Amino acid sequence: MKSTLRPAEPGEIIPEDYFRRLTPAELFTTEAPLEVDLGCGNGSFSLEMAQQFPDRNFLAVERLLGRVRKICKRASETGLKNLRVLRLEARYTVEWLLPHASVSRLHLLFPDPWPKAKHHRRRLVQRDFLHALRKVLVPGGEFLFKTDHEDYFEWAREELALFDHFESLPWDEQNDELSFYPETAFEEQWRAEGRAVHQLRMRNPTA
Ligand SMILES: C[S@@+](CC[C@H](N)C(=O)[O-])C[C@H]1O[C@@H](n2cnc3c(N)ncnc32)[C@H](O)[C@@H]1O
Repeated sequence: MKSTLRPAEPGEIIPEDYFRRLTPAELFTTEAPLEVDLGCGNGSFSLEMAQQFPDRNFLAVERLLGRVRKICKRASETGLKNLRVLRLEARYTVEWLLPHASVSRLHLLFPDPWPKAKHHRRRLVQRDFLHALRKVLVPGGEFLFKTDHEDYFEWAREELALFDHFESLPWDEQNDELSFYPETAFEEQWRAEGRAVHQLRMRNPTA
């Protein structure tokens, strides 16, 4: 029977088995702090971050194949070895695939806000996701969230308050960790349209 599997793009991760967690070595052969860009869109954030921080590893997660292909092409043209791309559903990736205690920062930037009340249950930031996120973050690891959607922002704040396992950190651009934090393609678009951007930063406690 003819196989329907497609070959991996350069730098793409296609898991051998979607029913067990990846090991850190399957993600990157070089050990370094891991940052995840969940729902990375055109990947511009991950591409810039990976260039700026060669001593960190970046995993860009995106469900659309066309976008995955373009990011892989750009990463390979730039010679980036510390950026890999995973084509997969965001929630599944965090709940079932990422190794426990492996992620130093998870960036969720302008995710789909699912504005209709009947679709709110599709929003990523809610209890089950947060429990899974806590497991994959290292102690002291961070969750960074940005949205232009005020209602989703309030929702996320409430879910995080109910969850009550993360500490809130200021989004202080003077802080070394945030002094280089590129605007994503969606952020550029929303800011150009004059929309406000809301952001929050949470930390998984160390003890
Ligand atoms: C609004 S865009 C934001 C993209 C990027 N983070 C930015 O700020 O420019 C949301 C992205 O998440 C992807 N996406 C939406 N739902 C997803 C899911 N369940 N799993 C993986 N990717 C998803 C979409 O294909 C899209 O590229």
